[in-house]
Amino acid sequence: MSTNGVHPVETALITLRDPRSPAAEAYRTLRTNIQFSSLDKPINTLLVTSTSPDEGKSTTLANLAVTIAQAEQRVILVDCDLRRPSLHTLFGVPNEQGLTSVILNQGDGELPLHATSVPGLNLLTSGPLPPRPADLLGSRRMEVLIERLRSEADMVLFDTPPVIAVTDAAVLATRLDGVLLVLQAGKTRRDRAREARRQLEKVKANIIGVVLNNARMEASYGYYS
Ligand SMILES: Nc1ncnc2c1ncn2[C@@H]1O[C@H](COP(=O)(O)OP(=O)(O)O)[C@@H](O)[C@H]1O
Ligand SMILES: [Mg+2]
Repeated sequence: MSTNGVHPVETALITLRDPRSPAAEAYRTLRTNIQFSSLDKPINTLLVTSTSPDEGKSTTLANLAVTIAQAEQRVILVDCDLRRPSLHTLFGVPNEQGLTSVILNQGDGELPLHATSVPGLNLLTSGPLPPRPADLLGSRRMEVLIERLRSEADMVLFDTPPVIAVTDAAVLATRLDGVLLVLQAGKTRRDRAREARRQLEKVKANIIGVVLNNARMEASYGYYS
């Protein structure tokens, strides 16, 4: 654990706040499942999306990033939710520079990565929000940036907006090794989950799994045992 006092990340993320909790254990299982999901072609770039806002995409991705970094892998977390970015808030870092500034500056120079309280975990925040996020994510410069990130980490994890409302996640999915779909247990409608899958399959995204998130159950410590 970090010893530099109270840091926002410590309280917001269960994997840091309570590494022995069942939820943290579930993230370790998810990490293992991702490692074994494709032995022939390892997953080094992965995005998380969902059908709607507030299903826990960013929370899931951040906890997964922490868990992978705890296994001594170099992880870069990239906020590609250029509509409602939240990783800078979650990790308590500024967002004046980030993904969009790298793209606008043609990707030259050092990447404005933020170190976190977790060794090996670096964050590329969204940067200033652009007028047309899907165009930016689909650009040639973005493709070059993805390759650069790939060369600087063992795992690069991308946060995105919901896949049904806008094309951002689908555009990005075509360039990455895998996609995780987050669903809210008891809340995500079945037809919407199916629609999300259809949109991702349409662009030949590699959906490697579904994460069932249930904010209510976890918030009340309501585990069945
Ligand atoms: N399993 C969970 N337990 C408790 N709170 C959660 C859980 N998952 C998400 N939340 C909370 O729900 C809200 C939305 O989560 P977030 O990860 O930002 O969703 P999204 O990125 O899909 O919009 C946040 O306030 C987050 O802290
Ligand atoms: Mg989010």
